[in-house]
Order: sequence, then C-alpha cells, then structure tokens
Amino acid sequence: MNREDFIMLNKDIVYLDSASTSLKPKCVIDSMNDYYFNNTSNIHRGEYNEAILNNKLYDETKMEIAKFINCDKREVIYTSGCTSSINMFVLGYMKKYLKNGDVVLLSKSEHASNLLPWFNLSKEIGIKIKYIDLDSDYKLDYSSIDKLIKENNVKVISLAHITNVIGDIRDISYIGDICKKNNILFCVDAAQSIQHVKIDFKKYNISFLSFSSHKMMGPTGIGVLVGRYDLLEKMEPLFLGGDMNLDFESDCSYSFKEIPSRFEAGTMPIAEVIGLLNSIKYINNIGVLKIHSYIKELRDYLVSGLDKLDNIVVYNRNSDSGIVIFNVDKIFSQDVAIYLAHYNICVRAGNHCDKILKDELGVSNTVRVSLYLYNNKEDIDKLLNALKNIDKIYDIIL
Ligand SMILES: Cc1ncc(COP(=O)(O)O)c(C=O)c1O
Repeated sequence: MNREDFIMLNKDIVYLDSASTSLKPKCVIDSMNDYYFNNTSNIHRGEYNEAILNNKLYDETKMEIAKFINCDKREVIYTSGCTSSINMFVLGYMKKYLKNGDVVLLSKSEHASNLLPWFNLSKEIGIKIKYIDLDSDYKLDYSSIDKLIKENNVKVISLAHITNVIGDIRDISYIGDICKKNNILFCVDAAQSIQHVKIDFKKYNISFLSFSSHKMMGPTGIGVLVGRYDLLEKMEPLFLGGDMNLDFESDCSYSFKEIPSRFEAGTMPIAEVIGLLNSIKYINNIGVLKIHSYIKELRDYLVSGLDKLDNIVVYNRNSDSGIVIFNVDKIFSQDVAIYLAHYNICVRAGNHCDKILKDELGVSNTVRVSLYLYNNKEDIDKLLNALKNIDKIYDIIL
C-alpha cells in the first residue's frame, strides 16, 4: 500500500520494525523541509508572515488531532513523546490526586513507560500497584478487573490500547464503561494503537490519552497528551518558562496562561508539529479501518508462513495487530536479528521494553516483527525464506 511514498524503501530493505518507529512518507518530510527552507520562525512571538503562518499550522494540528480522536482542541497538549506524556500526567496530576494506599491497576504486558512512572509513585507516596490477570494468550482477563475493583480501593486503570509485545487490542470501550461506573480514572497508552485503530476519547471515557508521532509516520521529538478538561484544570505544569506564563513580577508572583498553553513551556518542536499534521492527514486519506484490515491480512499470511517452519515458536498467534513475536529453537533472539540484518531485514529482538512480561511468557527475549501499511507479502516471503535457511546462521554471523 503506497510504498512509493516511502523513500527509504528505495534501498533494498525489508522494514519489519514499525512498532519501534514507523517510516515517514515523503509528504511529511517535505512539510518539515518547507518550514526549514522557506518558513522558519518561532511561534506566538512574531508579527511577520512566517510567524503568523506557523501560529496557524500549530493550531491547525491541534484541531486535526481533536477531530482524529474526538476530543476538544483545548484538551490537546504537545509533549516530546508518549513517555513524556505519561510522565506529565502522572507527576502533574496523579501525584497530588492519589493518596497512600490507593490502588492503580496495570498489566504485566505494559511498556516501561506505563509502568515506571507508577512504580515511582508507589515509592514516593505509597500507592499500590495491582496487575490485571492475563489469560493463556497473554491477553487481559477481563473478569479479573471486576474482582480487583471489588477487593481494592482502585482509583486508576492505566493500560496500553495495543500492547507492544503481544500486540493484543484491548477493549477500551468496555474498560472505559467499567471505569465510569466505578468512578475510576482511565489512562490509555495509545503508542501502538493511534496508527492502527479508531480511538474515541469522549465515547470511551478516557481521562488521559498518550501517544507519539514517530510511530504514526510523523517525526520523532513530538508526542501528544490528551487530558479531560476538568482534570487538566487541576494538573500542574512540570516546566515553567516562556510562552506558558501570563504574567510575573519581581516579588516572585506569577500566573499561567489558559489550558493547554500552560503545559507547553519554551519553544516547542514546530517543524515536528507540522510534520505530525501531515502524518495525520496521510492516515486519514487512507483510513484507519482500511489500514487495520490490510495489516490483519498480512499478519495472517505471516503467521501461517511461520507455522510451516518447524523450528519456530510463535507466542501471540491469536492477537489481532501487526505485531508477531517468535523464537527460533535454540537460537538467541538477538542472533536471529543479526542474521536477518545480513539480508537487510529489520526486526527487533530482546524484551521490547517490558521486563516483567517474562513472568507470564516464560521467556525474556523474543524476535518481534511489526508490520505497517508499506509492508507487503513479498517482505514476508523474504523473511520466511531467510528463516528457512537459518541452520546457516553461524556461518553467516560469526
Ligand atoms: C505501548 C508503548 N507505550 C509507550 C511507548 C513509549 O513511546 P516513546 O518511546 O515514543 O515515548 C512505546 C514505545 O515503544 C510503546 O510501544
């Protein structure tokens, strides 16, 4: 699908690592180059044409995000990425809101970015972390959520929408309803889902939603935090400085600008905001539903190909997203990745930033293939052919 838009594919490369970061279409790169070549300026500080154009694009990107996920434009905050979005609301809101003994529900298949900020709060203010059970496919066991809520003082549920190792898609509509009924805040890590499935911030009762631009074909260095307006009113800015203050005096008094400007201190990544605008437009032009069904077709093709190789164990055959993890019998996952790199096949190996999933999975390292819209069956055939000859691995990599 649209491979010609991705200049990097002109190299003889099989890119199967999109869950780490996606490739960027030419229109995204062109839009950023246009800012640097023709329209450089800061924002909210100048009266000249370029500055006014960039103010407009900065704002238009928020409107595009608001439309994309159904939220209010004032609920959209730019950050440096999903990790910084999660840290922003955990430190800026949760640290004050939560009290010693309050319970936060997570799962063991979360990314480090949706675990460590909460672990830090458990050390700092004594919140308790409980894990929602995983079933035999390493997906959420939804029945355990009710039980945990009945038995604990649950204040927050924080989960990835699509997990980055198992690749399961969580029913966030269902969990959002549970949270609403029980007056629980619902935080969704959308790093792996924003580019694959439809998200409705309002309908799913989400309190805080976080994602990165670089996994949705946009540039690195920019992410988004979407927070429910009434919660943002109580959230403290973590960074103070230019462009977020309304006024300050020599007696140390100061006041903040309105929401969300007060959360965007200093010069923001302007070219990246413009790049993100174009990546969202690019996704919209194709349609997330179409992207999702295309990836599912590729994924099924990949899993059935892996099934035909007898030395491979696939751990997440019943997931729905473009993420497939496996191991080759008796070969360390990193060695498999080095071997595949010999054929210009890019995959990821290791624990994929989740160091506690091993408690459930029984292994700490796997090879991860992650597919996106520019992949095709030929890419998968190249991977399968390389894996067929893996008995030659040590002739090649040593
Ligand atoms: C599920 C999930 N959450 C959070 C992150 C962190 O994203 P970033 O590194 O862009 O901040 C990732 C990155 O892989 C992820 O997969």
